[in-house]
Amino acid sequence: MDIIILGAGGHGRVVLDIVRQARVDKPVGFLDNNPALHGRRIDGLPVLGGIESLPEVKSHGVRGVVIAIGDNGVRRSLGDTIEASDLELASAVHPSAQLASNASIGKGVVIAAGALVCAHCQIGDYAILNTGCIVDHESMIGTGVHICPGVRLAGHVVVESGAFVGIGATVVQNVRIGFEAIVGAGAVVTRDVEPMTTVVGVPARAVKDAPSAAEFASLLAASR
Ligand SMILES: CC(C)(COP(=O)(O)OP(=O)(O)OC[C@H]1O[C@@H](n2cnc3c(N)ncnc32)[C@H](O)[C@@H]1OP(=O)(O)O)[C@@H](O)C(=O)NCCC(=O)NCCS
Repeated sequence: MDIIILGAGGHGRVVLDIVRQARVDKPVGFLDNNPALHGRRIDGLPVLGGIESLPEVKSHGVRGVVIAIGDNGVRRSLGDTIEASDLELASAVHPSAQLASNASIGKGVVIAAGALVCAHCQIGDYAILNTGCIVDHESMIGTGVHICPGVRLAGHVVVESGAFVGIGATVVQNVRIGFEAIVGAGAVVTRDVEPMTTVVGVPARAVKDAPSAAEFASLLAASR
């Protein structure tokens, strides 16, 4: 199926590579709301316009969409919009990712190179399981979660909707990461994390004056 990739930033480039390697769908272009990218090619694929151009590209034979936007809230809201349209919300799963046969995988997910999803895990819609992460047995990843590269989740971990687990973090067994919580890079999480709380360090502790999920999304966007 011909697909469009929403988001032509760094994550978009990763997703384009996954789609090309997977050889399931044919990427025909990006849409991105940054006007400076319009008309350019990113890794050989044209940026055809802003996200509002989606109905237009549909008339050119595009049938599916992969969302390549790092902001958990924006990704979830776009996913819901596409679900309500007659376009198909596609997933991008790298051929080197290993998914247990009894894992349940939601819609519109991105699973990058080398990710491991072990027995009986549940992965929610619009989740990103980034490069080389490990999601061990019976863990549950909520809607619109981002598990960053190199994260290790032990068994029976629950990551609630909209949470962000930063690069290289480790979460011990049976821990719950709350709704829209942020786990800092390299943290070792040994206890439950309250919703909308940022934790950092070893062992992970809450940061005072932590950014809200929306503030954090703009911090991440600014650092790209
Ligand atoms: C946790 C995080 C979100 C905090 O960002 P922030 O709100 O801008 O926080 P600040 O940089 O102001 O830091 C606040 C305090 O926490 C400390 N801190 C921040 N991140 C930390 C981390 N990962 N580990 C340990 N301490 C950390 C800072 O040193 C600072 O301490 P101080 O008050 O004693 O000086 C961010 O540092 C982080 O780890 N982001 C993850 C990035 C990532 O994984 N990117 C991959 C994308 S695929």
